[in-house]
Amino acid sequence: MRTLEWDYSRTELRMINQRLLPARFEINTYQDYRDVAAAIRDMVVRGAPAIGAAAGFGMALAACHSGAQSLPDLKAELHRAADVLKVARPTAVNLGWAVQRMLTVIDSQSGTVEDLRRRTVDEAVRIADEDVEINHRMAHFGAELIQDGDTIIHHCNTGALAVVDWGTALGVIRQAYADGKKIKVLVDETRPRLQGSRLTAWELQQYGIPYEIISDGAAGYFLRSGQAQKVFFGADRVAANGDVANKVGSYMLALAAHANHVPVYSVFPISSVDLSLENGDLIPIEERDEDEVLGIQFHGEPVAPQGAHARNPAFDVTPHHLFTGWVTEKGIVYPPFKKNLLRLMAQQ
Ligand code: MRU
Repeated sequence: MRTLEWDYSRTELRMINQRLLPARFEINTYQDYRDVAAAIRDMVVRGAPAIGAAAGFGMALAACHSGAQSLPDLKAELHRAADVLKVARPTAVNLGWAVQRMLTVIDSQSGTVEDLRRRTVDEAVRIADEDVEINHRMAHFGAELIQDGDTIIHHCNTGALAVVDWGTALGVIRQAYADGKKIKVLVDETRPRLQGSRLTAWELQQYGIPYEIISDGAAGYFLRSGQAQKVFFGADRVAANGDVANKVGSYMLALAAHANHVPVYSVFPISSVDLSLENGDLIPIEERDEDEVLGIQFHGEPVAPQGAHARNPAFDVTPHHLFTGWVTEKGIVYPPFKKNLLRLMAQQ
């Protein structure tokens, strides 16, 4: 199944519970948009495009399960739902982008309450379907960058679970493998929530793509010793100059790759670009609970002494000069980012 799906017969949203993987595969169902906001916050669903799609479906749930009798009442209620959904997590721009896209449709809608309900469902489904199509387009462009025999370091989870289906950076890797290239993936475990060892490894195993998990700190060793030829990761928000906010640890990985002349690529849909922000310093960085760091156990015991405190930024910013290129659904963008992105967008 897709990471998230709309169930027409039950008017509900079904999402894979990513908190439980790889130990258990369970599907959660949602009828209340507030529960969808909580699922985004608690990372039942995660990954920038996936949380955007979830928010779109959250808006559809708000419309379908509202008791509003008139169009103005329903629209007012949907604006309140939007306010709740769009602040569930701050860094991925796809969340606000999807909510805004839903609101634009909602605000322009006339007709009956039923018409508006149908229209919100249609738009949420369209966002999800487009996401899958965009991922396949990025995968085809990006796969050209991968050579037969490459070992690729990949950070976080950017596979089918991070989107509606297929994947961004991992989607590129899947495509290269499907094209017959013999490749191997070094999977950064991605502390503290371990999206690499829990989710990316789980996905790669199912696709039959050779991989090995490495601790995040080991990437420099593999890059310096010539054992990795490319670095690929995704993006949660890209500033107008090409600075990329992505899962914490991406910056250190890119620095080590750059110092060792290993190409670094970020793969993302154009909806991840925030042209309103001139550079990456302006991107809001989510800081999550310290328990995510302190709660990690070793031999069944907490790793840190009792009473210890921790800092837990969930993302960091990789400055644009560390990238070799950026892969989008319109093609590969080479520096300078803004000029070439705008040119590419105008071309097609
Ligand atoms: O905290 P997460 O798991 O939502 O972070 C996800 C990432 O950082 C991904 O790399 C990013 O969303 C791009 S994946 C499509």
